[in-house]
Amino acid sequence: MARELRAPPTAVTTLGLAPERQGLIERYQQVRQSTETLCKPLAIEDYVIQSMPDCSPTKWHLAHVSWFFETFLLKPFASDYQSPDPDYAYLFNSYYNAVGDKYPRPQRGLISRPTVDDVYRYRKHVDEYALDLLECVDAADLPKIMPIVTLGLQHEQQHQELIVTDLKHMLSHNPLHPVYTDRLSNPAVEVAPLQWYLEFIRDGGYGRAEYWLSMGWATVQQERWRAPLYWEEHDGGWLQYTLSGLRPVDLAEPVTHVSYFEADAYARWAGARLPTEAEWEMVAATVPTQGNFVESGRFHPAPMHVSAGSPAPAQLFGDVWEWTQSSSSPYPGFRIAPGALGEYNGKFMCNQYVLRGGSCATPESHIRPTYRNFFPPEARWQFSGVRLAQDA
Ligand SMILES: [Fe+2]
Repeated sequence: MARELRAPPTAVTTLGLAPERQGLIERYQQVRQSTETLCKPLAIEDYVIQSMPDCSPTKWHLAHVSWFFETFLLKPFASDYQSPDPDYAYLFNSYYNAVGDKYPRPQRGLISRPTVDDVYRYRKHVDEYALDLLECVDAADLPKIMPIVTLGLQHEQQHQELIVTDLKHMLSHNPLHPVYTDRLSNPAVEVAPLQWYLEFIRDGGYGRAEYWLSMGWATVQQERWRAPLYWEEHDGGWLQYTLSGLRPVDLAEPVTHVSYFEADAYARWAGARLPTEAEWEMVAATVPTQGNFVESGRFHPAPMHVSAGSPAPAQLFGDVWEWTQSSSSPYPGFRIAPGALGEYNGKFMCNQYVLRGGSCATPESHIRPTYRNFFPPEARWQFSGVRLAQDA
């Protein structure tokens, strides 16, 4: 049962505030709104399904990112804050052991209550208190909450990407092939990067152990992989499910939804290797941080748009996350932060590989040349793809 609450403070305008405070408020409003904009195409039924343990229902994402602000910002710093329901602390905690028990991740799709409407009300409630805090907190205390707000917004942007990728995974199971967004047309281009991956498939790449890491080979056989995730073979050709529905693969696009194992096997077949993350970052530092991000509305990697033979690295940012051969491990000098927020990522630095560059589901303001994403080597429901490297 929800508690009775006092009347929440009204949302703020930023006129007359110091620039630092004003900027933080505007960024908070922009990020929170962007999350809800991603949900506009959804039907109510789309919010609640969990298609596998790694994925979460959209409703859960919407609530969890609000729980993050409630737990780490409002409860410590807004003295009059009350949660709409104390049980949300249990339902929407993801993995923070230091703040209490958590509902089992694989069962998030079993939770029909709170309803989607309840969760939107929860978001509004958190927003009202957060904006009130940002407007009214003493200038002396602003430096204490700024890092938490910044982390909360970065966290919410990560979940924006997960909303897109988890949604795609869920919708892909529907034989009606639902359309989340209309397809944008592809411009004519000179190169056909997907052709290279198709040649790997046609050469029997998925069936030849010599190209695969031992764990990768075991996974290919166990999962019966024959092509990237979301690909279906029909009449000798390949279709792929996209967020614009099912359609033939387009040779002008880079391959996506491949695991580390597939990226590595393809590289070996091609006589190349995956880059280290240091190599990737050194090259990325020489080009603008621009690309096909979520704001493009494409929700799929764009065709390769450089001239054949061009020496410039193409599409380092956006389109697909690029697997590197580097394990996600601490940089020298890294220390896990004290307290619950120290659980944010340090405890996951085992059995994961680093991906770089962002994808067509990543918010543009979220990415930077130094950004390290990480996933286990068998994961492929993210927009993950391949960049090859060769020794000079
Ligand atoms: Fe999270």
